[in-house]
Amino acid sequence: MIDKIKVNFKEDFPILEKKVNGRRLVYLDNAATTQKPKSVIDAISDYYKNHNGNPHRGAHSLSVEATSLYDDAKEAVKNFINADSIDEIIFTKNSTESLNLLAYSLSEDFKENDEILLCISEHHSNILPWMRIAKEKNLKLKYIYIDENGSIPESEYEKITKKTKLVSIAQMSNVLGTIYPIKKISKIAHENDAIIVVDAAQSIPHLKVDVKDIDADFLVFSAHKMLGPMGIGVLYGKKHLLDNMPPFLLGGDMIEYVYENDATFAEVPFRFEAGTQNVEGAVGLKAAIDYIEKIGLQNIEAHEKMLTEYAVKEMLKIPYIEIYGPMDLEKRGGIISFNVKDIHPHDVSTILDSYGIASRAGHHCCQPLMRYMNLNSSVRVSFYLYNNMEDIDVLIDALKNVRKWLGYGS
Ligand SMILES: Cc1ncc(COP(=O)(O)O)c(C=O)c1O
Repeated sequence: MIDKIKVNFKEDFPILEKKVNGRRLVYLDNAATTQKPKSVIDAISDYYKNHNGNPHRGAHSLSVEATSLYDDAKEAVKNFINADSIDEIIFTKNSTESLNLLAYSLSEDFKENDEILLCISEHHSNILPWMRIAKEKNLKLKYIYIDENGSIPESEYEKITKKTKLVSIAQMSNVLGTIYPIKKISKIAHENDAIIVVDAAQSIPHLKVDVKDIDADFLVFSAHKMLGPMGIGVLYGKKHLLDNMPPFLLGGDMIEYVYENDATFAEVPFRFEAGTQNVEGAVGLKAAIDYIEKIGLQNIEAHEKMLTEYAVKEMLKIPYIEIYGPMDLEKRGGIISFNVKDIHPHDVSTILDSYGIASRAGHHCCQPLMRYMNLNSSVRVSFYLYNNMEDIDVLIDALKNVRKWLGYGS
């Protein structure tokens, strides 16, 4: 485990030296976005200092350098997720854009009464694009419901039938931390000739994700949740599926020929990358992948498991805290949503901030889930490799005092 090899990852993250409200910053909002190691910041700075040009467009040296850096980043992503070729990797703005692209470009194939199946815990990004095409094309939008432990009961899998055209599901819930059995869901989807889309926004920063192993038809994620920069995301798709999809955004760099009244489009992946691409984002994403791979996802996962176990154990000792999601910690990643009795989550989060702790309060872009759980909102803390046991101790100490701040005896 990381702590046993006595490496202080905080040193690699300049922002973690910052003081917040006079306290050491304890950054526990990693499910929203992660901090960036110096190597990522330096890679982006080096790109602008030494290599900036518009990729795929020019014969001049800087354009060629930018193209080569962009392609290197695709190669890194391809290897990271075990795709077959860089033609299966499309750079987008984020997971949200990847999901919108998919919903738009796949919808051509959908017919009235075809079913799209989501899980009730999906992020709005994995609901709204499907909801729109469901309304436009008279499709049926259905949901898998979870049990009180945040897991999917066996009977819910029976909702995947021959009528199901597509299943789109997050591998890890951004509210409950539940890790869903994606390989099993993918297998059932394929037995019913349905397409499976995996939203890996929360899983890929923390767990090894192999698109072949889980047999994902499509997979999406955002660089900013895995130590990379904002503004770049990934859409992976099996090549034969991408080949049959129309483009989403239209413009420069994605065409074959354009006439006054007609156009033909470039091959995959260029067909899906209209306009000037985010090369510094790609460079930063590659640096983030290099950093993660140097440490090893298995080590990251083990470290976060240790932090989560410790945090859950200590939080359960505080009588006025209710934790949501699986209590079987094997089924949960490093995300803990909870409420403090009688105190609004926004107040809890504001009080935590006065201890230097960054947490998140609200519906976490999961209103259908919150409604299903009879909640308006919750507080969420989420961990990453640079968190340590002392961070959890600061959190527990603050949580023990939250109610006192608002005049409750304990
Ligand atoms: C599970 C899940 N899917 C999708 C998204 C959307 O990610 P982005 O805002 O980077 O597009 C998030 C963001 O929190 C998420 O947690």
